Amino acid sequence: MRIIASANQKGGCGKTTTAINLSYFLAGKGEKVLLIDFDPQAHATMGLNIDPSDLKVSMYDVVRPWHNGSTGINDILIPIGENFDLAPSSASLSAVEQELSGLTGRESKLLHAIEALQMTYDYIIIDCPPSIGHLCFNALRACEEVIIPIDLSLFSLRGVSKLQEMITALKEKLDHDTTARALITMYDNRTRYSRQVFDEVKEVFRENMFETVIRYNIRLRETSDCGLPIGEYDKHAMGYRDYEDLAEEVIRSQVTKMNQASIGEHPSYIHESPQQHVTEHVGDESTYSAYIMKENTQTD
Ligand SMILES: Nc1ncnc2c1ncn2[C@@H]1O[C@H](COP(=O)(O)OP(=O)(O)OP(=O)(O)O)[C@@H](O)[C@H]1O
Ligand SMILES: [Mg+2]
Repeated sequence: MRIIASANQKGGCGKTTTAINLSYFLAGKGEKVLLIDFDPQAHATMGLNIDPSDLKVSMYDVVRPWHNGSTGINDILIPIGENFDLAPSSASLSAVEQELSGLTGRESKLLHAIEALQMTYDYIIIDCPPSIGHLCFNALRACEEVIIPIDLSLFSLRGVSKLQEMITALKEKLDHDTTARALITMYDNRTRYSRQVFDEVKEVFRENMFETVIRYNIRLRETSDCGLPIGEYDKHAMGYRDYEDLAEEVIRSQVTKMNQASIGEHPSYIHESPQQHVTEHVGDESTYSAYIMKENTQTD
């Protein structure tokens, strides 16, 4: 089983679109796929035409603290198609950011929740929220691979440095290795700006990038409103070809452990962070190493 998170602190860079469509095409190729919506915005859930307000249980019930084991991930699954299940989210998941604070094992809630699924799925895809907090940290702890969608804006690249800091902290403190690869999204080769940022991304990520590039495609935007993956919406769209290519590249790619050293230094402007999406109580802790090390007096 491969566990892949779609993560970037920058909002609106294509995390959910990637998570939904990668899941759809992997399932279409005969892989058994679970998509975990791990974002309180529940866009992946809504993007598959499920209304979160109709749900009695969601990912919140699976990872919340003081959870006595009564709701497992199997209890919340919604079949979306052949080989394709969804673990839905709802707004209540946002409470976890506060509720997990200070608890022992807070970074491993999701990991433990999916342990039992080892034999059930070939792929678990996790759609992360656009913030760095307990949810994102749990997703990184649970996964072995991260797709970092980059919508060719410098803000998107800036979101990457915090993510990398978390990945490095996971490696150093918990010996958890994660392979991170950038995925260019919303690429428009007609604009010089797109081409320039593309070059910056290549400089930073070098070989840790997908060959597949997701082009800007209005049909992909329309799919969010219709609650359908692109494959169910328009088989002739560029977005269809691009996400099918991505699924093929994911399947054939070897899972090699990330060589963080081979990810280049970010140009200095990327470290300047004009937007702090860092969730407050995690942001209080000066580094993510400190976050992991700061162990805990309470237990769940
Ligand atoms: N390749 C693309 N071409 C055109 N529009 C796209 C493309 N990919 C995504 N979009 C649109 O851009 C918007 C943001 O995409 P998406 O929701 O996938 O981003 P996100 O990173 O998950 O956002 P958030 O940070 O809020 O979770 C959506 O309206 C989506 O339909
Ligand atoms: Mg999203």
